[in-house]
Amino acid sequence: MFVPGETASSQTRAGRGFALLDNVIAETTGPADPKTGGSLAIRVTDLARYYTMGDSVVHALDGVDMSIMAGEFLAITGPSGSGKSTMMHLLGCLERPTRGWYELNGERVSDFTDRQLADVRNRSIGFVFQTFNLINRTSAVDNVALPLFYARRTRVKEPAMRALDRVGMAHRAHHRSNELSGGERQRVAIARALVNEPALLLADEPTGNLDSRTGDQIIQLFHELNDQGVTIIIVTHDPDVAAQTRRVVAMRDGKILEDRPNEASARPDVTPVTATGTHGEVS
Ligand SMILES: Nc1ncnc2c1ncn2[C@@H]1O[C@H](COP(=O)(O)OP(=O)(O)O)[C@@H](O)[C@H]1O
Ligand SMILES: [Mg+2]
Repeated sequence: MFVPGETASSQTRAGRGFALLDNVIAETTGPADPKTGGSLAIRVTDLARYYTMGDSVVHALDGVDMSIMAGEFLAITGPSGSGKSTMMHLLGCLERPTRGWYELNGERVSDFTDRQLADVRNRSIGFVFQTFNLINRTSAVDNVALPLFYARRTRVKEPAMRALDRVGMAHRAHHRSNELSGGERQRVAIARALVNEPALLLADEPTGNLDSRTGDQIIQLFHELNDQGVTIIIVTHDPDVAAQTRRVVAMRDGKILEDRPNEASARPDVTPVTATGTHGEVS
C-alpha cells in the first residue's frame, strides 16, 4: 500500500531523508508501479459509497479495487444503476467514499478536506458531461475560459484559444454555444475541461447525446488527446463506444464484474480533426 512519505523507493533508500524528495516527485508524477515501472495515476482500495434512502441503504459502489496507470484510456461500462456515475464522482473528487481509500498521483485524496479536494479538482482533473453544460448565448472562448476566471488567473484568452485549437474548434471561438451543433458543443466542453491542462480527463456518457458518427469523432478526439499523454476515463453504457477504448471495466451492482485490456480496440475510422489546425468535417 502506498502511503505518502513511505513510497516504495524511500523504503529501499538509505534513510528517511529522501522521503520528502520522493513526496515531491510523487506529487508531480505519481509513484512508480513496482510491476511495470510506469507511473500509477489512480489506485482505489475497497472503495465504497452508500446512500441512505429512508430506511434502506443503497450500495451504489460496494468495495472496488482498481489501479490505473498514467496514460491509459479506459471505459467504465455497465447497465443503468450499476454504479458508474458514483465511481466517476469519487474519482473526480466530487464526493467522498463511505469506506476505502483513493490515491491520485500518490496523494491519499480520500483523507483530504473539502478545500484540498477542490484544489485537486482544479489542478488535476477535467470533467466532460453528457449534456455539455455550456453557458448558453455565451461565446465558445468565454465558456472555455470559465475555469480560469474561477481560478483568478490573469491570462485567460490565450490558454482558452489554445484549448479550443486542441479540439479543432479555434475557428468557432466567437460563436455562441447555442449556435453550435451537438458535436461542436461537446468539443468546446472538452476544451473547457482541458484549459487547466489536467493530467486526467473524466467523461460521463460523453457521446450519449450525439448520433453515432459524431460520437465516433469525439472518441477519435479522445484518442488524439490520449496520444498526447492525457489519462482518459469515460463512462458509457454503450458497448460500441467501450470497444473503441483500450481497457474496459464492466460494473454490475456496485462491483467490478470484469476488467480487461481491449486488445482489439478499434479506433474509430474518422478523419482526425485536431493537432495541426487542419480540420476535418465536424458535426
Ligand atoms: N445521490 C444519491 N442518492 C441516493 N441514491 C443514489 C444517489 N446516486 C446514486 N444512487 C443510487 O446508486 C445506484 C448507482 O447509481 P449510479 O452510480 O448513478 O449508476 P449508473 O451511473 O451506473 O447508472 C443506483 O441505484 C442509484 O439509484
Ligand atoms: Mg450514470
